[in-house]
Amino acid sequence: MKRLAIVGAQWGDEGKGKVVNYFAKDYEWIVRFSGGANAGHTIYVDGKKYVNHILPSISPDTDSKAFLGAGMVIDLEQMIKEIEIIEQDYPGFSSRIHIDREVFLVLPWHKQEDAIIESWRNNPIGTTKKGIGPAYTDKVSREGIKFYHLLDEEMLMERLKNSYQLKMKMFNEQLEMDYKNVFEYLVHLRKKLEQMNVNIASAVDMADVFRNTTVLFEGAQGVLLDLDFGTYPFVTSGSCMAHGVSAVGFSTFELDSVMGVLKAYTTRVGEGPYPTEETDLEKAEALREKGNEYGATTGRPRKVGWLDLPALRYAKIRSGLTEFVITKADVLNGMDEIKDGQIRNISIS
Ligand code: IMP
Repeated sequence: MKRLAIVGAQWGDEGKGKVVNYFAKDYEWIVRFSGGANAGHTIYVDGKKYVNHILPSISPDTDSKAFLGAGMVIDLEQMIKEIEIIEQDYPGFSSRIHIDREVFLVLPWHKQEDAIIESWRNNPIGTTKKGIGPAYTDKVSREGIKFYHLLDEEMLMERLKNSYQLKMKMFNEQLEMDYKNVFEYLVHLRKKLEQMNVNIASAVDMADVFRNTTVLFEGAQGVLLDLDFGTYPFVTSGSCMAHGVSAVGFSTFELDSVMGVLKAYTTRVGEGPYPTEETDLEKAEALREKGNEYGATTGRPRKVGWLDLPALRYAKIRSGLTEFVITKADVLNGMDEIKDGQIRNISIS
């Protein structure tokens, strides 16, 4: 299969990192097209655990390369931390990372805005407070900072200044940092990336390269958290579906397969509807412990429940899933009974 997209079929945390990592050795490029540091993708290489939030789940011990596509919102400081950890074990790793110059950046004030807005909401969403919503908001309101703005310091300063004066009005001077500090911070990070030999790329220049080789597109979160088609408004702010590959210049018609990763039961972090949630606290706790269901990004205990078949059918149709991978079925070992999407008891003995 030349082009494969792997997306979450539920509310994220289905184990996509492991699945991507499993298939990654057969692909030259691993491309992420959405989300940011709200995601948490855990991979194991030679028994060592790496938890990445920004980096695509490429195997450091192969020759595959990573591309961070324009649908993402990137916290550069976090990305540098992740690269540095892997670089220590696999020297030269950083030169395999390519960042699209069109990506939007998560700035320090976005994280502050995320926390302030959540505290103002009557019905909080339960965001990860990684600045994702505010960074995408700035993108849409045309105040965002793209990576290429870092390449022209005069333009960068001008854009930060303009954005800052708007934010000061909107947030009634509650933001703690000044635009000049953010400017210095971003210039510092850009220089660091240059020293590390991380590649600044463009999906336009890469169009032919990608079409002449093998590409695995790695989704973030899951279909039910998609901004447009998830359980709105209790969703993230990016695309969680295979259609997100358009950010890298691909059509879903060009994909050979869209794999939906699903967990044999369900979990959810944050707020929002959850029809198959296990409401018996003791049973929920037992399932949570057995599945080690704690957020890779925030450490929050995940709500747990049973497989939601109608929701899965919806995800299949919405995101054009052509195959499924089921993870963590072993967590259900030893249970006499599990439930399905209509909360019927299914005897498995
Ligand atoms: P945000 O993406 O931080 O704005 O959070 C919006 C909603 O998406 C919240 O309910 C989060 O808990 C949820 N969310 C974001 N990223 C993930 C993830 O990687 N796994 C599971 N839930 C997530």
